[in-house]
Amino acid sequence: MTTIGILGAGAMGGGIAQVAAAAGHKVIVCDHLSLALNKCNKNMQGTLKTLVEKGKMTDAEAYAMNSRITYTDHMSDFESCVMVIEAIAEDIEAKQVAFRSVETMVTKDAIIASNTSSLSISAMGAQLSHPERIIGVHFFNPAPLMRLVEIIPALQTNAATMEKARSLVDSWGKTTVIAKDTPGFIVNRVARPYYGEALRILEEGIADEVTIDWAMRELGGFKMGPFELMDFIGNDINYTVTETVFKAFYYDSRYKPSFTQKRLKDAHYWGRKTGRGFYDYREGAPVRPEPVQDKKLGKYILDRILVMLINEAAEALYLRIATREDIETAMTQGVNYPKGLLYWADQIGIELVVQQLDVLYVEYLEDRYRCCPLLRKMVRDKKNFF
Ligand SMILES: NC(=O)c1ccc[n+]([C@@H]2O[C@H](COP(=O)([O-])OP(=O)(O)OC[C@H]3O[C@@H](n4cnc5c(N)ncnc54)[C@H](O)[C@@H]3O)[C@@H](O)[C@H]2O)c1
Repeated sequence: MTTIGILGAGAMGGGIAQVAAAAGHKVIVCDHLSLALNKCNKNMQGTLKTLVEKGKMTDAEAYAMNSRITYTDHMSDFESCVMVIEAIAEDIEAKQVAFRSVETMVTKDAIIASNTSSLSISAMGAQLSHPERIIGVHFFNPAPLMRLVEIIPALQTNAATMEKARSLVDSWGKTTVIAKDTPGFIVNRVARPYYGEALRILEEGIADEVTIDWAMRELGGFKMGPFELMDFIGNDINYTVTETVFKAFYYDSRYKPSFTQKRLKDAHYWGRKTGRGFYDYREGAPVRPEPVQDKKLGKYILDRILVMLINEAAEALYLRIATREDIETAMTQGVNYPKGLLYWADQIGIELVVQQLDVLYVEYLEDRYRCCPLLRKMVRDKKNFF
């Protein structure tokens, strides 16, 4: 039975520990806070109890799975791990310090992986004596339920690490895609306009939150509208990811964060978890207004957000962040989009997508609306993505 180490017993660390233990590994969960370890252990007991109650596993299976997991505050317990997955705070310096320690605790061929959402894997590898064993394995929240895992090789990663990490994660029942070590990888890059363009439409007073959410759900087929989703993710987290991606892209205006969301973050209106966000979740909160169910307005909203998403997906392909298939898989499985964005572009007609982007560009004269050269080339060559 191989052993997997998890550094960081928070939301992600606990979820990944569950996935690895369910796949039959011994799992060592390490955190520097005993409070975090206790909470993680308690959550795991709760999850296993629920799984048994729902008939998803037997008592004996839950017992066996639980006994495969060890909680510790000593990194030296990682000694026998074939892979250690780091899931501590999203802070490059903290991660670099942690990686230096992890490397002194594991054998020379153990894989050292990070679950970072957007930081550079190559920068983490630079801290290691054997940087060829570093890799990004980016799970989505909640890790046991979300199938997608982005695998991100650093500049230093060797083929054996890549192969071993990917097949391990595949064997856990996950769908893996490969992304270049660039800010936001695939999902957290391509999805930015879902939030950013919706916020822009709101700020311009074109429609309110409920109407934008209605348009994206009812006309677009998305599971959640952008504002419901931002409240669900947490405006603190969603804003920070946008800001990180924006800075990491040398302030490219396509990823510019919004003051509206910044103010919600400042006010601790983080969404569901604090009781208030774009919407009010407190008991006795006023009933939400009805959306303006105007088909023409709804179509304008959907088209505007959708072409911005398609532009971003095309740019990711154009700049070789990932393959066409992996971009589609990432967006349908990582954020449950109803269709792959490139396939959606084919359906709409790439020429029409380009026209719509150009209308926005001419209207606003902002670089944010620049059309990806790949889309223009495809129109010239009369090509589709699929
Ligand atoms: N929460 C999400 O939706 C999500 C999704 C994908 C990826 N991520 C990434 O996963 C990582 C963890 O996120 P999270 O939401 O689980 O965070 P979290 O705050 O819930 O948990 C982090 C844990 O790491 C521990 N920790 C911090 N520094 C440590 C150290 N030096 N040594 C040992 N333990 C340490 C903390 O005590 C805490 O228990 C981040 O890099 C984040 O960007 C988060």
